[in-house]
Amino acid sequence: MREKNFLVVGGSGFLGRHLVAALAARGARVTVPARRRERAKHLILLPTVEVVEADVLAPGVLEQLVAGCDAVINLAGVLHSRRGRPDERGPNDYGPDFARAHVEVPQAIVNACHASGVRRLLHVSAVGAAPDAPSEYLRSKGVGEKLVLADDELQVTVFRPSVVFGPEDNFLNLFARLARAFPVLPLGSPQAQFQPVYVGDVVKVMLAALESRSSAGKCYALCGPRRYSLAELVRRVCEFTGRRRWVVGLPDALSMLQAWFLEWTPGPLMSRDNVRSMRVPSVCDCALPFDIEPTPLEAVAPGYLGGMYTARSRYRLLRWRARR
Ligand SMILES: NC(=O)c1ccc[n+]([C@@H]2O[C@H](COP(=O)([O-])OP(=O)(O)OC[C@H]3O[C@@H](n4cnc5c(N)ncnc54)[C@H](OP(=O)(O)O)[C@@H]3O)[C@@H](O)[C@H]2O)c1
Repeated sequence: MREKNFLVVGGSGFLGRHLVAALAARGARVTVPARRRERAKHLILLPTVEVVEADVLAPGVLEQLVAGCDAVINLAGVLHSRRGRPDERGPNDYGPDFARAHVEVPQAIVNACHASGVRRLLHVSAVGAAPDAPSEYLRSKGVGEKLVLADDELQVTVFRPSVVFGPEDNFLNLFARLARAFPVLPLGSPQAQFQPVYVGDVVKVMLAALESRSSAGKCYALCGPRRYSLAELVRRVCEFTGRRRWVVGLPDALSMLQAWFLEWTPGPLMSRDNVRSMRVPSVCDCALPFDIEPTPLEAVAPGYLGGMYTARSRYRLLRWRARR
């Protein structure tokens, strides 16, 4: 690997956990700022990784962190935000938490790179991100992506994954938890389209992009080998976890009503903005770059969702298949 010192903003999350471990395994020194250090405690044991408790938007913080790095990797993202400005229509119509994570953080990274002379930036966006997309999440992601690509001093590579799966993911694990807890799963947006991509493949692509000079200025869509509707995906999760569950697809109006209700749960589990995001198919027309073979969901998810590895869960899966 040409670069040896990395700053990974948003490295305390799901994708960060896998990417930072892969960088450390290649001998790189990695600094991970986290707003709460305990969120990144799984990284502290890695020998060449330093976790720093910091708000990257506080004045001067990023400039200090970026100094001495060979490249910056931006993984910062949120799925929910306080309300945007519903009266506004246009590129700035999104909530303050989306604005901070998806627009202000990348802008601050670009500024800090200029100030410190760092030239290389890897930025993770999302399939469907566009300033005129139907959801605040996708609009803010689209604005952030455009601003990093527009910078002509930096060598920027952008990655646009569909939903990412792998150990500790936030998506399939959520449905696995729901399947454990409830006999019936009323599902909003059942026809939403996804092409899940394995976290290990996303990491491989990002490492390959770091090695490749021609990746500068490029935007890579990252999808897995197969498309699924959300209902199909949830049924697969039930199968992998050995739960026989009734998945009931809700029509549009009820999906919105359910999301409005779930906005009040801690987390929250779902929002109306998520429903609007799912109106854009999260799929790609192209293969993974750098000739990387995409890993099928079925090869990995049963293992970490607990469907195959324990004798008890294997027994449940066999019973489920036999409809007993
Ligand atoms: N996972 C997916 O299925 C998926 C699909 C498409 C795109 N993506 C994109 O891929 C990236 C990584 O996703 P992930 O699944 O790893 O997300 P994640 O587990 O939720 O982690 C998000 C990270 O972003 C950081 N962050 C959030 N708001 C921030 C802010 N205002 N300032 C600084 N840091 C902030 C968090 O840091 P703290 O520890 O400080 O909170 C955390 O480290 C995100 O940009 C996401 O939008 C993910």
